[in-house]
Amino acid sequence: VVIPVVLSGGSGTRLWPKSRQHYPKQLHKLYGDYSLLQHTVKRVAGDVAPIVVCNNEQRFMVADQLNEVLKAKADIILEPTARDTAPAVAVAALHAMARDPEAIIAVFAADHLIKNTAAFNGAVQAAAILADEQKLVTFGITPTKPETGYGYIKAAEKGGASAVASFVEKPDSATAEQYVASGDYYWNSGMFVFKAAQLIAELQKFQPEIIGACKAALDASVQDLDFIRLDEASFAKSPAISVDYALMEKTQQAWVLPLEDSGWSDIGSWDTLWDVSDKDAQGNAFVGDVIAKDSSNCYVNGNGRLVALVGLEDIAVIDTADAVLVINKKNSQSVKAVVGDLKKEG
Ligand code: GDD
Ligand code: MG
Repeated sequence: VVIPVVLSGGSGTRLWPKSRQHYPKQLHKLYGDYSLLQHTVKRVAGDVAPIVVCNNEQRFMVADQLNEVLKAKADIILEPTARDTAPAVAVAALHAMARDPEAIIAVFAADHLIKNTAAFNGAVQAAAILADEQKLVTFGITPTKPETGYGYIKAAEKGGASAVASFVEKPDSATAEQYVASGDYYWNSGMFVFKAAQLIAELQKFQPEIIGACKAALDASVQDLDFIRLDEASFAKSPAISVDYALMEKTQQAWVLPLEDSGWSDIGSWDTLWDVSDKDAQGNAFVGDVIAKDSSNCYVNGNGRLVALVGLEDIAVIDTADAVLVINKKNSQSVKAVVGDLKKEG
């Protein structure tokens, strides 16, 4: 069996003001009738109970959202502090091995949108077969722009499934431009399929402190209602590092499976959300009550109030109870800086 693992611990600063530390993007209904987390578990969890790893503070919201859409009860592992994705994947793998020492885990981000579920599920099944042959499988997306927020994968052989020749996480923009122009690179989708025991053995090679801390945190964990609470002191000893830097850049066992036609996107910023949304003839995408005159390629996400646009192009307006964002879509990445300023002000 393949055990789905969903990582739901990020805070999604570029989707401020909807996304907040205590109510992050994956818990919002940003697209359609479900939150991004709900879309994810609906897509990946059939009859097998998924493992969801999230922050302690979000546990009730996460549990409620999962119960709304899941048949099988999820195992929810709570992190006392965020240590990024490598420790989160490690605790999920160790937990999966306790269920089944031979378990294969499929790791998914909670903030991705996938429009073609059938193509996607086919790819996950193909990846599980590769993972069974001791390959650490990631999915490759054909890049459309020199995005610096992604990992870049060079395949040893072009076309189908292939060994990974190199993996570079979040290159600078000159490097990303060069990679995209070369046509030799995929984006890393941020989803992985591993044999749990192999992942642990490989991480043990490169990051023994992570495995030590995660084992101790699980050994001393407490089962509380539906939640598995990791031991705080043990987990805090883990380095904070993502699985991309900790493992994928270093391992010789990585494979990439091209994920074509799945309609994959990482809902990371307001321009991507506009990108994936249905648009009117002027290229506008609106959520809520909006009147638009002479405006095109705009995105509005309302909050119960009417929003009126006149003579605007490429603008996004995000309304919430206590903050409004008005931004040129091409500056969507800079929302992070606003959140940074707010944190400084306290
Ligand atoms: N449980 C837990 N704990 N989850 C976390 C943590 C954590 O400390 N940090 C992040 N996550 C979750 C996020 O909520 C998200 O679902 C997923 O892990 C990925 O984290 P991101 O922070 O969104 O990563 P990224 O987008 O910068 O980069 C990753 O995804 C890209 C594609 O979307 C990398 O894998 C890149 O290589 C990849 O291209
Ligand atoms: Mg992401």
